[in-house]
Amino acid sequence: MQAIADFAEQIALEAGRLIKHERDNNPLRTDYKDQTELVTHADLLADKLITEAIQARFPSHRILSEESRPDKSQAADLDSPLWIIDPIDGTVNYAYGHHQVAISIAYAEKGHVQAGIVHAPFVAETFRAVRGHGATLNQARIQHSGATVPRDSLFATGFPYTKDKLPPLVKRLDAMIHNCRDLRRLGSAALDICWVACGRLDAYYESVSPWDFAAGRLIALEAGARAGHFSEVPDGYPVDLWGQDLLISAPEIYNQLRDILQEASRG
Ligand code: IPD
Ligand code: CA
Ligand code: CA
Repeated sequence: MQAIADFAEQIALEAGRLIKHERDNNPLRTDYKDQTELVTHADLLADKLITEAIQARFPSHRILSEESRPDKSQAADLDSPLWIIDPIDGTVNYAYGHHQVAISIAYAEKGHVQAGIVHAPFVAETFRAVRGHGATLNQARIQHSGATVPRDSLFATGFPYTKDKLPPLVKRLDAMIHNCRDLRRLGSAALDICWVACGRLDAYYESVSPWDFAAGRLIALEAGARAGHFSEVPDGYPVDLWGQDLLISAPEIYNQLRDILQEASRG
């Protein structure tokens, strides 16, 4: 598995160089998916680089990738190994020249994520985990914050591009802001989760797609954080890849945060 993680890390670094070079040297070329969702030329280039490298090395493996193969039903198919790719997580940040941008690559067997890389090229930070072997940031071991109460906890979340389902999210946000220290909306789910893993944040919750969180979730778990959902995961669906109502936090505050989010979802 370390060889798989080495390979994933190497292509994440390569894609990182590509998207950094694109932003530093070429005018930003953007488009929209589904009328609202921003996508840059760099998203497409990085997706191509990563998926072609995986196909060349592992022709029998499947790929779930945000830009070129976004068929999410792949996540529930356990037949052959699956790679889960977000070529740029934080596209809006990328387009605005912010640094909170990452490439996320996860590798799963039978629905269980075994290795994950989240690489942030603008700050030269690479988070990595292999199941059972801990999590690292630039090769140094990382650990969650050890937060013990929601009141002293800093949390991150995000909001979908389409605004039609906002009211319940705003209700949950209201409850969290009232019960925690403060909110950060950083714009990259993969990095939000890695920041919980290394203690820069105490908690993260959101509903996202497998490519946004698959690698980060393993990194957080391997850093001793707790990961789960504040609503039911459908029977038989791989928990590692179910992105609805995700909650990832330092272990001691997990139950209390889950209660706050469930209560706000009910009322
Ligand atoms: C987005 C980011 C953001 C989250 C959105 C995601 P993208 O991914 O992770 O933080 O709130 O739900 O779609 O579009 O930048 O790859
Ligand atoms: Ca994403
Ligand atoms: Ca993306």
